[in-house]
Amino acid sequence: MTTYITTPIYYVNAQPHLGHAYTTIVADTYSRFCRLRGDEVRFQTGTDEHGDKIAEAAALEDVEPKEYADRISGMFRDTWPLLHAKPDNFIRTTDEDHIRTVREILQKVYDKGDIYFDEYSGLYCRGCERFLTEKELVDGNCPDHQRPPQEIAEQNYFFRMSNYQQQLIDHIKDNPEFVTPERYRNEVLSFLSEPLEDLCISRPKSRLTWGIELPFDNNFVTYVWFDALINYLTGLGYPSGEKYDTFWPVAEHVIAKDILKPHAIYWPTMLMSMEVPLYKKLHVHGYWNVDDTKMSKSIGNVVRPAELVEAYGVDTLRYFTLREMSFGLDASFSSQAIVARQNSDLANDIGNLYSRSIAMLKKYHGGTIPQPGDEEEVDRDLRELAERVVQTYQENMSIFQFQKGLQAVWELVSQANKYIVTNEPWALAKDEAKAVRLATVMYNVMESLRLLTLVLRPVMPETAAKMTTGLGYGEDDPAVSLLPEGGFWGVLKPGMRIQKIEPLFPRIDAKKHMGSEKQEKPKKKKKENVAPVELEGLISFESFKEVDIRVAEIKAAEKVKKSDRLLKLTLAVPEERTVVAGIAEYYSPEDLVGLKVLAVANLKPAKLMGIPSQGMVLAAKSVVDGEERLVLTGVLGDAPVGTRIS
Ligand code: MSP
Repeated sequence: MTTYITTPIYYVNAQPHLGHAYTTIVADTYSRFCRLRGDEVRFQTGTDEHGDKIAEAAALEDVEPKEYADRISGMFRDTWPLLHAKPDNFIRTTDEDHIRTVREILQKVYDKGDIYFDEYSGLYCRGCERFLTEKELVDGNCPDHQRPPQEIAEQNYFFRMSNYQQQLIDHIKDNPEFVTPERYRNEVLSFLSEPLEDLCISRPKSRLTWGIELPFDNNFVTYVWFDALINYLTGLGYPSGEKYDTFWPVAEHVIAKDILKPHAIYWPTMLMSMEVPLYKKLHVHGYWNVDDTKMSKSIGNVVRPAELVEAYGVDTLRYFTLREMSFGLDASFSSQAIVARQNSDLANDIGNLYSRSIAMLKKYHGGTIPQPGDEEEVDRDLRELAERVVQTYQENMSIFQFQKGLQAVWELVSQANKYIVTNEPWALAKDEAKAVRLATVMYNVMESLRLLTLVLRPVMPETAAKMTTGLGYGEDDPAVSLLPEGGFWGVLKPGMRIQKIEPLFPRIDAKKHMGSEKQEKPKKKKKENVAPVELEGLISFESFKEVDIRVAEIKAAEKVKKSDRLLKLTLAVPEERTVVAGIAEYYSPEDLVGLKVLAVANLKPAKLMGIPSQGMVLAAKSVVDGEERLVLTGVLGDAPVGTRIS
């Protein structure tokens, strides 16, 4: 199989932030996953350097646009290695071959009669670099940039996008995977249910010179999207050559919802006119907010990837973003959330599994993988779960459901931890007659670790490399670098020796950690002689008593505007108060009214999406059929509203 995966080419009017980092991590993880399953892969990213925004940003610094673009493009290029993102190609729209090809394509489409000259007046948004329709405005503003578009009337060149409207509708209907997740496919189809306007593709040089000159009229430059989208082809050497022939037929683009229309409507219609086959898939993700607020320079909450890597480590950042965001929906970044993931999923779950397993193997078998004996029922359960997990992981990673893929992996982590507790290797080791059983248990534990090493490679390359070396494998050994077709348990060879190991993840002190300090040095591990148990998470009864949990009744519930996650609840505790809860993906407001739930009544008030929230409803986070759910909690018998839980 072959795979071609691209990110958007990022504008060079701003430095890389968490949003850009996420898209690039997604594309990198997917490309690593595809390599793991044996594909030939090409991963492309780059920078979009023409247009008003860049010209303006350069003018503000009193430098030439190219000089400015060189500097910011360099920042993007230098950021990706920090995230261990390894693109095969970094394209710039100021590259000579890109400019030449854009001009050739413009000429071809013009000769075909799909570009015409006309007078136009419309509402132009500089942020989006396109004309908006009246319908797209919210209270007269561009919904993405929160400011009114400018009325512009001028003569320009137009692309006959409307000629291809029906062909595009048919294509989307015939190919359910063309745009995913489905909510975005529906959004595109709904947009296409109205007549399409033609696309303005030029700017007069009197207004903008920083662009690619039209081949058929040197008084105009091309409009950003006609230049930018073509990068996906020019990066392959279009119109011919081996790279183009190999990778274009399997092209997959990753973008966020902000640039859905250019990718799902402009781009396919341009390809139709150019008589080039359409890309295969468009994967659309949601937006990262910070502490539930939109990331913005003016608010001053823009999160920089380099600072995150410095504070938390690259693999924690990669894991966190992929695990926390349900692909397609918005997610919120906070230092508390990333520290919680680091301490629980990484340091506690997988970090402990790894260090305790290797410590036990050293202690009981001198660091050599033992020969297992007969399989018992508990062993079979672990093996079958591992097989299911690898399959679920594969299915989800191939459709960009990283969150579900990782949830499945953590089922194996927790099952392997439970397997150790149930089988008590430390007790088996005390009884010589149980030597074969001990060997079987330790073999199965180590085999689980080998599989975890394998599936974690795309997500956490640095950690997986440490685990690979720890297990005594070379980087490219197929046992840890190639997804097996099936029947993969039992690959680990008895007699192999494990190596000296480094701890995988240090715990972070949540109180001290505000998001900018250096990562703490790992704590010294306690000497292991009995079942290693984490005591650090225990709290005193006094601390527990500080939390005031009450039976509360939901009196009213409504969706919070512009949020996919949040509901605004009116709770009676028994006095009425507003609580904003992140449960919108799991409950409709009308189903909630009248329910009695448990709520924390003495939380400091916080503002979420501008709404003051006084408390928190409690929910169980569960995984059903690989899907994460929040289930509200209540009391089993009758307890009046306001009853304290003790
Ligand atoms: N230059 C155009 C894209 C041309 S592609 C042919 C552009 N550039 S951009 O710098 O504005 O990048 C937009 C992309 O950056 C989004 O589609 C997404 O991939 C990423 N993100 C920017 N902000 C984001 C968030 N807050 N959250 C998630 N991703 C976001 O548009």
